[in-house]
Amino acid sequence: MRNFLKTTLAFSKKVATTGALFETSRHVVAAITQPVTPQTRQVIVEYGAGHGNITRGILAKMHPDSVLLAFELHREFCEVLQQNVQDSRLRVINDSAAELPRYLAQYQLSSVDVIVSAIPLTILPPDLCHQIMREGHRLLSPNGTFMQVLYSLRALGRFRQHFAHVGYQSVWRNMPPAWIYTCTK
Ligand SMILES: C[S@@+](CC[C@H](N)C(=O)[O-])C[C@H]1O[C@@H](n2cnc3c(N)ncnc32)[C@H](O)[C@@H]1O
Repeated sequence: MRNFLKTTLAFSKKVATTGALFETSRHVVAAITQPVTPQTRQVIVEYGAGHGNITRGILAKMHPDSVLLAFELHREFCEVLQQNVQDSRLRVINDSAAELPRYLAQYQLSSVDVIVSAIPLTILPPDLCHQIMREGHRLLSPNGTFMQVLYSLRALGRFRQHFAHVGYQSVWRNMPPAWIYTCTK
């Protein structure tokens, strides 16, 4: 309960960039981490890690040799994340999701198998939103998947400008109810 209140307070102070007052529920975590597998080594990228609820879900499912690059804009959130989650497969990156190409090069990785995003794409400036989608698409491996959680289907048109296949499902057990987008090449 204490952590829940801490996170809600921290999110509410930065609501213009968090786009939410509450962390996503374990039901969202289960749905959005669906392409993460313990069977094979994957390069996984998370956008908008916050205090790390989805991060923990990804780490719990991923292969021991997989790597997770978790982007988070706010330094305070990164500090909480690093305190809460210690795992040698995790790299916490205090920077914008738009910087993915630079960090992939830095870690000598050529493509990404799964992108899991909780950033509030619908309230970002349209140019930044399209840049994040375009670069995500470009850097995904041919069988890769871009997963996104949002509170509406308003981003469907934008995703369809970049991805050949865009599916979606609702998760009612979340506050507020959420939509999970599944985008592939
Ligand atoms: C709705 S919160 C999600 C937090 C957590 N992953 C969850 O599911 O509850 C969105 C997070 O995205 C971060 N964020 C917003 N824009 C971002 C960007 N361009 N790059 C990286 N993180 C961003 C915010 O700081 C915030 O922590």
